[in-house]
Amino acid sequence: MSVLIKGGRIVTAADDYVADVYVEDETVSLIGESLDMSADKVIDASGKYVLPGLVDPHTHLDMPFGGTTTIDDVESGQTAAAFGGTTCHVDFIIQPQGSSFADAIADWRSKAHGRQVIDMGYHMAVTDLDEGGSLEELASLPDEGITSYKLFMAYKGALMVDDETLFRTMEVASETGALVMVHAENGDVIDVLVRQALEAGNTDPIYHALTRPPEAEGEATNRAIQLAHLAGAPLYVVHVTCREAVEPIALAREKGWDVWGETCTQYFFNSLDDIAKPDFEGAKYVYSPPVRDKSNWEVLWNAVRSDALSAISTDHCAFLWDGQKTLGKDDFSKIPNGGPGLENRLHMIHEFGVRAGRISLNRMVELLATNPAKLFGLYPRKGTVAVGSDADIVVFDPERTLTITAASQHSKTDYNLYEGTQVTGTPEVVLLRGNVLVEADELVASPGIGQYVARARFGQELRANTSVA
Ligand code: URP
Ligand code: ZN
Ligand code: ZN
Repeated sequence: MSVLIKGGRIVTAADDYVADVYVEDETVSLIGESLDMSADKVIDASGKYVLPGLVDPHTHLDMPFGGTTTIDDVESGQTAAAFGGTTCHVDFIIQPQGSSFADAIADWRSKAHGRQVIDMGYHMAVTDLDEGGSLEELASLPDEGITSYKLFMAYKGALMVDDETLFRTMEVASETGALVMVHAENGDVIDVLVRQALEAGNTDPIYHALTRPPEAEGEATNRAIQLAHLAGAPLYVVHVTCREAVEPIALAREKGWDVWGETCTQYFFNSLDDIAKPDFEGAKYVYSPPVRDKSNWEVLWNAVRSDALSAISTDHCAFLWDGQKTLGKDDFSKIPNGGPGLENRLHMIHEFGVRAGRISLNRMVELLATNPAKLFGLYPRKGTVAVGSDADIVVFDPERTLTITAASQHSKTDYNLYEGTQVTGTPEVVLLRGNVLVEADELVASPGIGQYVARARFGQELRANTSVA
């Protein structure tokens, strides 16, 4: 199938120019002015932006968590992603305690088999190096294209690891060329604060935020940075929310250490006012680290502008409000942690980042596509529009308006963190390796079209199509 995209404004992390794009055999084969070629499909992109398909480095689809399972499976989550212009994501395999990494991989691959709408890779969340996976097995994961190890420094009694496991994983990463990712919050301290709150009879959702203070995030962030430096491993801090965590990351980066940070869309827009909403509505905003006071919104915009933070993900971890969040109706600590977001990252960052004059279009592409692709071994196959890259392309209409609602979204959850927000600018056509995924507000392709992508090791490029179906 060949595709000719005519006259669009091509925006990458580095460039911004008007040209035609010719796609053949799933890749971009030619970019030039007034290309005179026949194609199976011609898309008129005049007045539109031609963006690389976005890459979301942080999602949780079909994941058992908090006594239930996230409501979006691979098909519904990836459908939501496609409508939001995301054509590749990296999901977390969670190693169940006592289980080998191989068993966990087989389990996650079976959840995706035949259901993929977009391309995907996996991180490995390490929970157990004693009874479950061995250091040798951990070291072998990059050979399968799983080139990042994730550790939770919070969720005591569930996913949390101790500093020994954290440090041993970092040592393995320094040998194997994997990137270490951390959920940085001090889980021991949070556990004490949660118990104290419950003993005092404080059960409402707001106590989720009040028992996970910014200092707990700042301390864990700094600890992870120092330990990764000691081990000689590159570090990526996920879902950074506040000044206390931004500052140690910025400092490490100024020193030239191999440290990167990500924030997520919701941390620019949700706050303590949301989680304090009455009648249990605040539970919609229970995710970790928690919503912060609004002064942190500007901290985060400054951080993504200055490159203290280098990526914006969604941490899409969707639950129903009615039926799943309600597990914690009488005890905030039982509310499953996580929120939806895969569909609206581009809408929200374009509206309130680019249109509001906070970041440039190039920087938006860098934060949502190019940097995630580079950091997670997908670039230049993903994350840019260039000859030889996968033809993952978003034809974006910067004039079209949309009101974001749960009723019109593609996620299976029953609420939206940005309900009622009006944005100007939406994806019009979304291509995955030259195949039309979304057009005229319809999903055109069938599940099964997405592929597993074996990612390159940290700092290495991914060029050839090394997918395993
Ligand atoms: O609350 C959240 N963020 N849930 C997903 C798991 C995680 O911590 O990333
Ligand atoms: Zn986390
Ligand atoms: Zn997460």
